[in-house]
Amino acid sequence: MNARIWTWLGAGALAMGIAAPALAAGKMTLYCSAQEDWCQLMARGFEKASGVKVNMTRKSSGETFAQIRAEARNPKGDVWWGGTGDPHLQAAEEGMSVAYVTSVRGELQDWAISQAKSAGDRTIGIYSGALGYGYNETLLKQNNLPVPACWKDLLKPEYKGHVQMANPNSSGTAYTTLATIVQLFGEADGFDFMKGLHKNINQYTKSGSAPIKAAARGENTIGIVFMHDAVKQAVSGFPIKVVAPCEGTGYEIGSMSIIKGARNLENAKKFYDWALGAEVQSRALEVKAYQVPSNTGAKTSPKAPDLSSIKLIDYDFKTYGSSAERKRLLKKWDDEVSNLPR
Ligand code: G6P
Repeated sequence: MNARIWTWLGAGALAMGIAAPALAAGKMTLYCSAQEDWCQLMARGFEKASGVKVNMTRKSSGETFAQIRAEARNPKGDVWWGGTGDPHLQAAEEGMSVAYVTSVRGELQDWAISQAKSAGDRTIGIYSGALGYGYNETLLKQNNLPVPACWKDLLKPEYKGHVQMANPNSSGTAYTTLATIVQLFGEADGFDFMKGLHKNINQYTKSGSAPIKAAARGENTIGIVFMHDAVKQAVSGFPIKVVAPCEGTGYEIGSMSIIKGARNLENAKKFYDWALGAEVQSRALEVKAYQVPSNTGAKTSPKAPDLSSIKLIDYDFKTYGSSAERKRLLKKWDDEVSNLPR
């Protein structure tokens, strides 16, 4: 619907004494790659704050990237909020998102701004979190399995059928895992690790956090996920223990981008600024989203993983978020790992 019709409708609504601001404020389409409950909170929160009607879809990071690319000639989304930064960087490089400098920039952590800088302001960091894994303590004991502490522990033959991770094509969590392992152990040893791990994997899920949700329900023992996703299950009362792997680990800069060709560009910018505010980011705790917020004034929880106490690698976002490298690694994983017998 064009702006004139909206204005006309708004005036009509005023004459009839019904909620004109909602009509005048219009609408927007949000593609969301964080947890469903957080996506809902953001969509409904923005509707309430602005009167803009939000149409939200939750899909994993790699899936959303693929969808935005498929829709490039006829864009349907306005903002892509959440999900790992690597595919957001790839989208920026491929011209699928547009540059925007937010008025909130001065309140943000350095890592959020460096994400923006490396992409010519076509994306920005909204949260950060370290990769690791979690396990169901009850199932581990029932199966007489040793307690894992390192990445390499996950290769032990006794864990066969007990480990779950997502597919790195669809999931940003799993792509971060692949890129982390390659950076930690080198490409040749890293791929040997992925092949060894493959033997113990019971299922590659579509969404990144699914493996730890399955562990919480007692349907899987060990889930490779972001540590904050494992903490969420533990805090919710499930017998989940969280591991920061002994060799060190990678991390994500969860990101946000405005989609090129956005039909509701002004509302997309409004959402962008709103979503970066301290107050809005503090609300993440309401849905037990324990990432580190990018606004320095946002509230954090003592339950959140303490990134300063975790051995973090110097994750090379420039390289692993580049179009060529992401494509190459995913193809190599498809060709050399995922097809192997288990
Ligand atoms: C979960 C995490 C986020 C992460 C996202 C990636 O929602 O809480 O921190 O960005 O997973 O999702 P994906 O399904 O792409 O792995």
